[in-house]
Amino acid sequence: MVVRIRGAAKAFGPVTVFEGIDLDVHQSEVVVLIGPSGAGKSTLLRCVNGLERLDAGTIDISGERLSYQQGPLNRIRRNVGMVFQSFNLFPHMSVLGNVMCAPVKVAGRPRDEARQEARQLLDKVGLADKCDSFPSSLSGGQRQRVAIARALAMRPQLMLFDEPTSALDPELVGEVLEVMRALATEGMTMIVVTHEMQFARKVADRVVLVADGGIVEQGSPQAVLDEPATPRARAFLNAVLER
Ligand SMILES: Nc1ncnc2c1ncn2[C@@H]1O[C@H](COP(=O)(O)OP(=O)(O)O)[C@@H](O)[C@H]1O
Ligand SMILES: [Mg+2]
Repeated sequence: MVVRIRGAAKAFGPVTVFEGIDLDVHQSEVVVLIGPSGAGKSTLLRCVNGLERLDAGTIDISGERLSYQQGPLNRIRRNVGMVFQSFNLFPHMSVLGNVMCAPVKVAGRPRDEARQEARQLLDKVGLADKCDSFPSSLSGGQRQRVAIARALAMRPQLMLFDEPTSALDPELVGEVLEVMRALATEGMTMIVVTHEMQFARKVADRVVLVADGGIVEQGSPQAVLDEPATPRARAFLNAVLER
């Protein structure tokens, strides 16, 4: 088991975002989280990599309990790659610099080794020819692929994606989803928040609908997307699929 969440609860002040969330993610599984805006999908992902702290409940990553002490937290974070809606690249560094930065500075790997691995990762996301470019000269889709390569450079056991294509022009969405699909095929364990239902259908092993403060429904893409069991799921899917 890569992720084991039990009884997760989170509030901001008086507002409960979710409570009683149990979720397991197995090795090489791709779990797609869907749900209305404000349901707490981002907050849940941020709790999984320790950017936010649960009010109650536990999260285990590869058998290690997420604690909020600096040492263990940093160790767990290195094992968890995250890609956000906005690209968060360092603007003053080349593409190659962005990808090899954390392996050298955080993981203490030799520069030459990190550089070589960064080149391989950029090749893998289709950007071998952009190593020396700066983020400002790239399209949104290219930036997001650099962000994926940068996360992979830490050799994570788990990748979290929070609406990685939501900020992209429509014609650039496909190239990013394709990189994610390839990663899933290679066996990466992934939790993906997305509204791309075709991606969910093709790539997800499991779709989880988060709404009304908890997990409303989960199952295979076919089960959840085609034959939702609850009125809440039907209402959400009708709203999304009508767009
Ligand atoms: N740092 C924060 N402080 C206060 N409220 C927050 C914070 N982050 C998120 N929220 C609130 O928590 C709820 C869930 O947000 P979020 O996890 O971003 O939902 P989703 O990603 O599903 O759209 C929303 O009501 C949001 O306004
Ligand atoms: Mg969100």
